[in-house]
Amino acid sequence: MQLKNDLLLRAARGEKTERTPVWLMRQAGRILAEYRAVRDSVSGFIELAQTPELAAEVTIQPVDILDVDAAIIFSDILVVPEAMGLPYEMVEKRGPWFPQPVRSHSDLKKLRVADGENDLKYVLDAIQITKKALNGRVPLIGFAGAPWTIFAYMVEGSGSKTFSKSREMLYRDPVFSHKLLQLITDSTINYFKAQIRAGADLVQLFDSWAGILGPKQYTEFSLNYISQICDAITEVPVTVFAKGAFFAREEMGQLNCQTIGLDWNMGIAESRKLIGSSKTLQGNLDPAALYGNPDQVRAATIEMMEQFRGSRHVANLGHGVYPDIDPEMVKVFIQTVKEFK
Ligand code: CP3
Repeated sequence: MQLKNDLLLRAARGEKTERTPVWLMRQAGRILAEYRAVRDSVSGFIELAQTPELAAEVTIQPVDILDVDAAIIFSDILVVPEAMGLPYEMVEKRGPWFPQPVRSHSDLKKLRVADGENDLKYVLDAIQITKKALNGRVPLIGFAGAPWTIFAYMVEGSGSKTFSKSREMLYRDPVFSHKLLQLITDSTINYFKAQIRAGADLVQLFDSWAGILGPKQYTEFSLNYISQICDAITEVPVTVFAKGAFFAREEMGQLNCQTIGLDWNMGIAESRKLIGSSKTLQGNLDPAALYGNPDQVRAATIEMMEQFRGSRHVANLGHGVYPDIDPEMVKVFIQTVKEFK
């Protein structure tokens, strides 16, 4: 189907656009009262994510309410470990929890490579329903966690400030670590290909915990695997967002992907210099800037847009929108990007 608004895809490919496209990481399911109403009609996040009609509904809410230039499928990065054989729970106010973390070679034997097609069928169904309901209004983004970030949750068993058990494993047993990272990588490639067959127009990798590794370990345990995924996905544009990986920007410029996401600590001019002119950059307003009043949000957004002026750009925040942000301030951000000349 022909897209009516394909700004995101053209910007990703480095083609000319009338204006800069804008969407927000975590736009589905964090800030909208309309999302909470749907979520409260079921037992919780997991049931919502596994009910394709409802997942499609909350995917489209930000397109209707916020007027963003893309939808991102409502799901979570942790559906991949589950499809590999590691069930998870979402504990209210505490976040994700894996009752049986992966810590030994015998734990590894219980895992399989996800096929993406059967084990994550509910996501694919949600993508198909969403595409139909969007009727070409905007592109639909598929996503997955980057292998290192998924590894961190699978080994740790939960979120953590330091992910010390996961990082301990990199030192204590690099052979185990590489085996698990390869299983996740193969699963992610299958999953991305299935998302694309179902209708995803672009895919994004979230390496949310990139910044807790040092540069040498980041290359060995993260970028090597991200690079395999980028090489395998040739059907649609790929975006890589590695939060905190300021030290890896030059190497990221060499990835076989179209767009690199910047967090708000990464200087825009400096990032462009390190990454080069052959990539689109996505980002990178500080999510906390949206706590300001409308004039402050407008000024911060214009300041960001000025710095990206004239170069390949997709406007976004530097990380996911915070749950207590006023949706009205999100609208000011979006409107300011759209009116920027
Ligand atoms: O735009 C969207 O929100 C699309 C859906 C989406 C979710 N998670 C839904 C979700 C996306 C893109 C994600 C990505 C995700 N999940 C990341 C990478 C991005 C990032 O923020 O760094 C990570 C690290 C996770 C893991 C995760 N899932 C955590 C740490 C938590 C708890 C804290 C939180 O963010 O709410 C989740 C739960 C989760 N994922 C919720 C939603 C809507 C909240 C659950 C609920 O509604 O009860």
